[in-house]
Amino acid sequence: MPAPAPRRLGTGRVVLASHNVGKLAEVRALLLPYGQEVVSAKELGLPEPAEPAETFLGNAAIKALAAARATGLPALSDDSGFSVAALGGAPGVRTADWAQCPDGTRDYAMAMAKVAKLAGDATDRRAWFTSALVLAWPDGHTEGVEGQVHGHWVAPPRGQKGFGYDPMFIPDGEQETFGEMPPEAKARLSHRSRAFAALAARCLG
Ligand code: IMP
Repeated sequence: MPAPAPRRLGTGRVVLASHNVGKLAEVRALLLPYGQEVVSAKELGLPEPAEPAETFLGNAAIKALAAARATGLPALSDDSGFSVAALGGAPGVRTADWAQCPDGTRDYAMAMAKVAKLAGDATDRRAWFTSALVLAWPDGHTEGVEGQVHGHWVAPPRGQKGFGYDPMFIPDGEQETFGEMPPEAKARLSHRSRAFAALAARCLG
């Protein structure tokens, strides 16, 4: 039997199911040309669901479905992370946890220092970011895609732009870290932009 056609997003309001301001800014910019009215889970005061799945797509689906069911609107979520070859792909789906402080805040300088310490002796410096984007509807239907960008990690971190682990990642073929690049340059290369291009082809416009 042929696979059912992907569901497309009509115009109207869409909830961005994230509380991460860095991600929100990037996903908002990507959605801008599609004329959607974007409102974030943070602005709506929605709780942040737990992320127990072992895959990016699994966690993205949990977040998007929770927001779609809570609001009655279609919801888009990003679950993403940083993977280091010498650490067997860690921190991966646990990327945010590595930055977690006991008081509930996140310390990315600490998280990047931990990656550099654990992977420091290895000659293999390969690393990559993954972004899973899931669009969910209140009736429980989901559409999901993934994008990756490959490169290598550096220490100490370089640059103040971007967010999260950006200052320790240089994409293949580039000299600057994501933390040193202007947002437009990161957007041309990033895992999130690649996932978004796949989502747009499937569900938008
Ligand atoms: P989650 O998707 O909310 O579970 O967390 C994603 C984690 O990966 C956070 O710690 C982010 O800071 C990090 N991350 C995701 N995308 C990027 C990126 O584009 N640059 C830097 N860090 C990222």
